[in-house]
Amino acid sequence: MQTRIISWDNTKGYEPSELREAAKILRSGGLVAFPTETVYGLGCDGLNEEAAAKVYEAKGRPGDNPLILHISERDELTPLVEEIPPMAEKLMDTFWPGPMTLIFRKSDKVPTRITGGLNTVAIRMPAHAGARELIREAGIPIAAPSANISGRPSPTKGEHVKEDLDGKVGMIIDGGDVGIGYESTIIDMTGLRPVILRPGFITKEMIEEVIGTFGDEGIPEAGITPDDEAPKAPGMKYRHYAPEAELTVVRGDEEEARIKIDELARQYPEEKVGILTTDERKELYGYGVVLSIGSFKENTLGHSLYSSLREFDHLGVTRIFAETFFGNEQEDALMNRLMKAAGGQVVDLVDYNKVIFVCKENVIMSPMAEWIMRSIVMDKSIEICSRGLVVLFSEPISQKAIDLLASHGVPCEEQSSRLLRQEDIDEHTLVITMNFTEKVKVVEEFDLTEHVYTLREFVGFEDDVADPYGGDEEAYEALYLELKDLLYRMKKRLGWQ
Ligand code: TXA
Ligand code: MG
Repeated sequence: MQTRIISWDNTKGYEPSELREAAKILRSGGLVAFPTETVYGLGCDGLNEEAAAKVYEAKGRPGDNPLILHISERDELTPLVEEIPPMAEKLMDTFWPGPMTLIFRKSDKVPTRITGGLNTVAIRMPAHAGARELIREAGIPIAAPSANISGRPSPTKGEHVKEDLDGKVGMIIDGGDVGIGYESTIIDMTGLRPVILRPGFITKEMIEEVIGTFGDEGIPEAGITPDDEAPKAPGMKYRHYAPEAELTVVRGDEEEARIKIDELARQYPEEKVGILTTDERKELYGYGVVLSIGSFKENTLGHSLYSSLREFDHLGVTRIFAETFFGNEQEDALMNRLMKAAGGQVVDLVDYNKVIFVCKENVIMSPMAEWIMRSIVMDKSIEICSRGLVVLFSEPISQKAIDLLASHGVPCEEQSSRLLRQEDIDEHTLVITMNFTEKVKVVEEFDLTEHVYTLREFVGFEDDVADPYGGDEEAYEALYLELKDLLYRMKKRLGWQ
């Protein structure tokens, strides 16, 4: 098949006749690849089963992996779905058009060929002007998966689409570089509470600001769902976003990771080795092909993740070592893509088997951190405890803290404050303090050079956790919520189950 290539440009838009031609191809059951603000999509008539079959064929995509329907206006949604939950309305008011896909119960209009046999349908209104104009001109919902060969990194430039699909589709619209660089957030709105099926640029925090908190089980862990397990998001079970090179994620403290990556890279002198980092840290590496996923400071992390993965392939890199990318708003989305590209292959720098939470007196903050962490870490081979730095007389945990934990259903056994001692710590121990002063004290008193962090620092934030001592109930409640959020992040960062 001869693929026609046209262009769309942010200032000039479309050549009108070319836009009409693109819309015509779509209406007559053909395939058109087009840019969106996340990644390029491979579009077809979303209500036409035969057209959908062509999409699966061109991508080499398994037929049970459903497609997202793209619309240009809100009123196009109603005929496609059975109901619109009030929470979905709120989310659409805030984030549409934009990088957010919602799952609804589908109407009879939507063929099950599009939804992989499910009775639900994924719908998104992209913010990209060229994408919306195309959908509007076509006058039909456009089903569009990312415009890559199944399993390859999603395309973020016109050239990527040509690489994968030239000769297999009717038309490619080259709109240059996309803005975000990774796929939309997918939220299932069909249950009692929303569930994030795929993290994206719109984060859990941003969603909760609009509809309130909705629990922590809502994000599937990064990595690959075992084949025999029925996944919530059908796409999650396949290896994804993968470069041809073997990709290994090196997890640990930034500086330790850099040293380890450098060492690992030099172990393969016969191979071309790639290193994946951020703009800010690129020049710290003195070996290998060093590429970036974007800038931490300019808040463009992820923008060049996929293009760098493709670039490694072009350069003949056969082995890639990647840093982890925590401590930024989109960390869930980035780590999810990275872990999938790595097929779960991770080098853990330190194998912690024990964490000690430390605060001054070990009666409020550190015991709370201990018991919340115990309630969220399922791996029983990890020891979790808490200690104090100034414990003259052993005291029971504060009643306020116990009541607070109980009100959130966190079990907490009776225990008394204990002083942190040298024998509590070995090389597999992670010491987490609540504030910077405590950290300094631990470092000095126990002569520790590593594996001591403040809790906020460990997950990439600045400042200290606020001490509620002497505060009212609200202060305690705020502490609980902050600790819980930070401890979930900590668990994620450690890769613990
Ligand atoms: O940003 C994006 O979402 C891009 C652009 C082109 O819009 N599209 C995209 O499509 O990433 P795709 O097909 O590569 O990923 C769609 C994901 C798949 O993992 C699929 O399993 C999931 O959405 N999905 C689609 N319909 C679903 C449904 N009814 N229930 C659960 N998951 C669904
Ligand atoms: Mg995809």
